Amino acid sequence: TPDITSLCNDLNSGVNNIAESVRTRKCCPPNIGKKIKPFVFPKEKMVRMRWPAHRGTSEQVDKYRRAIQAMRDLPEDHPHSFNSQAKVHCAYCNGYYTQVASGFPDLDIHIHNSWLFLPFHRWYLYFYERILGKLINDPTFALPCWKWDEPAGMRIPEIFILKDVNGKPNPLYDVYRDAWHIKQVVIDLDYDHIDKGISDEMQITRNLCTMYRDMIRNGGDTISFFGGNYIAGDSPVANNDPSVGSLEAGSHTAVHRWVGDPTLPYDEDMGNFYSAGYDPVFYIHHVNVDRLWKLWKDLGIPGHKDPTNSDWLNASYVFYDENEELVRVYNKDSVDLRKFNYRYIENSEQVFPWRKSRP
Ligand code: C2O
Repeated sequence: TPDITSLCNDLNSGVNNIAESVRTRKCCPPNIGKKIKPFVFPKEKMVRMRWPAHRGTSEQVDKYRRAIQAMRDLPEDHPHSFNSQAKVHCAYCNGYYTQVASGFPDLDIHIHNSWLFLPFHRWYLYFYERILGKLINDPTFALPCWKWDEPAGMRIPEIFILKDVNGKPNPLYDVYRDAWHIKQVVIDLDYDHIDKGISDEMQITRNLCTMYRDMIRNGGDTISFFGGNYIAGDSPVANNDPSVGSLEAGSHTAVHRWVGDPTLPYDEDMGNFYSAGYDPVFYIHHVNVDRLWKLWKDLGIPGHKDPTNSDWLNASYVFYDENEELVRVYNKDSVDLRKFNYRYIENSEQVFPWRKSRP
């Protein structure tokens, strides 16, 4: 098995050619020369209940703040540090890894715009959540979920926008965000850099239609929802937009654009792959994407099935786990949520509020 720490090359990336970026363009993980271990499913009995970010109890919010603060307090080169975690996204999205192990050293690995999108981010959050729990010594620690598909969740959750809490800087705050959208404006799940200026009520109705589009109308089968084949030897450029899945291309990308600061050169932080991980809201945005993958299957529509193609099943990534070990994980192990011990807290009257919102 190749060692990703040697595969990752800070000089490789296309990001090195962008000028005036506000975040670092050195994104490879800290190299501590560890062997890559195989993944094992969690054995502990505790269940982590991922909670709605707009309805957290003070205990949930307080634990979450403490965990993120602990992450921010680690030395930069620690694999669990806030910046190391942010760089994971950059490294896998901006061309730091090449397909050298599969015999294509000139081709980048890029986990967006293809069927790698959902499983890669599921694994990323899996380790991120366990690392945060470990930092505050809480094996039940669970991430919040930004439920932007439900009317009550269609604003940036308040816990992220205060600058200070009890006289100390809020660890969930990020300075590089759209100055207007953080004022609790109703999000536009079809946002493309232009504010529509319609009433909240109308925006909410439109958002539900956008969710219907991404989850039902445009996501009727495996490839339309997950995105198209991306296998060893494929160029990420040639394999761009036409193969992006309905949820990734639609509401997921709109949320990134909506939160990023349009006055910065690369819409940092949320508006660009290389910088998105520096905004704590990125992770809870993806918690919802992860939940929507589950809901897509729960809809019970005949075409709503996980991929079974072996190229998909056997694609793998490497992450630092909560014990600072490098672990290799496969798509095939990401599909059965019962094997992980996290769950989603749902509001029983509100599941699938967009289910009947056919535009
Ligand atoms: Cu890896 Cu929402 O992007």
